[in-house]
Amino acid sequence: MNNKPSVVMVGLGYIGLPTAALIAQNKTYVHGVDINPKVVETINKGQIHIIEPELDNAVAEAVKEGYLKADIKPVEADTYLIVVPTPFKGKNEPDISFVEAATKSVLPLLKEGDLYIIESTSPIGTTEKMMNFIYTERPELKDKLFMAYCPERVLPGNVMYELVYNDRVIGGIDEKSTEKAMAFYKEFIQGDLHKTNARTAEMCKLVENSSRDVQIAFANELSLICDKADVNVWELINLANKHPRVNILQPGCGVGGHCIAVDPYFIVSDYPMESQIIGKAREINNYKSFWCAEKIQTAKLEFELKHGRKPSIALMGLAFKPDIDDLRESPAKYIVQKVLQNVNNEEYYIVEPNIEYHNVFKLTNYQTAVEKADIIVILVGHKEFKKLNLPVNKVVLDFCGINKY
Ligand SMILES: NC(=O)c1ccc[n+]([C@@H]2O[C@H](COP(=O)([O-])OP(=O)(O)OC[C@H]3O[C@@H](n4cnc5c(N)ncnc54)[C@H](O)[C@@H]3O)[C@@H](O)[C@H]2O)c1
Repeated sequence: MNNKPSVVMVGLGYIGLPTAALIAQNKTYVHGVDINPKVVETINKGQIHIIEPELDNAVAEAVKEGYLKADIKPVEADTYLIVVPTPFKGKNEPDISFVEAATKSVLPLLKEGDLYIIESTSPIGTTEKMMNFIYTERPELKDKLFMAYCPERVLPGNVMYELVYNDRVIGGIDEKSTEKAMAFYKEFIQGDLHKTNARTAEMCKLVENSSRDVQIAFANELSLICDKADVNVWELINLANKHPRVNILQPGCGVGGHCIAVDPYFIVSDYPMESQIIGKAREINNYKSFWCAEKIQTAKLEFELKHGRKPSIALMGLAFKPDIDDLRESPAKYIVQKVLQNVNNEEYYIVEPNIEYHNVFKLTNYQTAVEKADIIVILVGHKEFKKLNLPVNKVVLDFCGINKY
C-alpha cells in the first residue's frame, strides 16, 4: 500500500478482521497486524481464515482496492485498535498478556494526538493499566494521547450486519478521549454510540454476559428443583411467564460459548467477595452439565437392571447452542466426554448435525441414532431434533425441553 494507513488493527481474528474490513470499505486505509504469518498471508491474497458470512467479499474488495493490508508488524498510523484474545490463566483468571504484547508492539510508533482503543474483552481497569504502562515507557507523550475502551457485542454469523447497526458503548480515560473515540466510530457505525468512561465500558461488556449467565442459572436451578419435586419445569416456566412482569429463560444442559461462560469470571476473579450471585451462577450452570452426565449414568444402570443387557445411547448434539457448529466451552461436549469416560460395553451414537467430521468423536446421522438407540439424550435443541417424533417406547432424557410437555 502506498497510502499512509490511518488505522492499525492489532489482531485479525473473528472480531478484528471484520472490523478492519468494514473500516476499509469506508475508504480508510487499514494496516492489519497479526502475529500469525499464515493469517497475514491469507488476508493479503484477499482471502479469509475464519468462517463468517459476507466477510470474504468485504476482505477481497478491501485488499484489491488497496485499503486493507495485513502484516506481522504495525506501522505508524493515527489510530491503533487492540483486538487480541483475552484468555484465562490458572484458575479462571483473565490473562491480559496479549493486550500488553499488542500495546508493546505499537508503543514505539505512538505520537502526539494518536488514538489508542482496546476492544478486547478486558478486566475492569485494563485501559488505565495500559495508559500507565504507555506513559511510563513514553513519558514525553503524557496527556498527549487519546485512549478509550469500546467493547464488541456482535453475534457470530451476523457480524458484518451487527458491526454496523449495533449500539456501542465508548469510554475514554478522560472526556477528550471519549469524544475522539466517538468521532472515530461515527465514521462507520450506524447504531447509537453511548458515551461513558473506560472502567464503565469495560464492566458493561462483562455485565451483559454475566446478566445472561445469572438468568440462565435461575432457569437451570429451577430445573434441578423441579426434578426432585416432580414438577414439569417447562410447564412451570410457561405458566410463571404468564405473569406480566416475569420472564424466566429456558433451562438447558449448562451454559457454553466463548462469552457467557467466560466473561463472568473476569468479574469474579477481581471481586470474589462482592460477586456472590455472579460466581454462584457460574457454579450452577457448570453443575447442571455434571448433573446431566450423572442422569445419563443412572438411566444406563436402570436400563441394564430392567432389561438384563447394556443399552445403546444416542447423545444428540455437541454445539454450545442450537443450530450452530461452534463447540467452544460447550456443555453438551463436556457431557459427552464425561459419559464416554464411563463406557462399559454400551454402544454410543454421537450426533451433531451441524458438523460433518470431528477429530475425536465418530459422528452418526441423527435419524439413524434415534432409530438404533435405547436411550435418547437431547443435549442441544437443534431444529432437526425438534422435528423428530421421539419414540414413546424408548427412554428419552430431554434436557432442552424440545418435547416440552
Ligand atoms: N468472537 C466473538 O464473537 C467476540 C465477541 C465479543 C468480544 N470478543 C472479544 O474480542 C477479542 C478478540 O476475539 P476474537 O474472537 O477476534 O479472537 P481470535 O482468536 O479470533 O483472534 C485474535 C487474533 O489476534 C492475534 N494475536 C494475538 N496476539 C497478537 C499480538 N500481540 N499482535 C498481533 N496479533 C495478535 C491472533 O493470532 C488471532 O489471529 C477477545 O477479547 C474476545 O473476548 C469476541
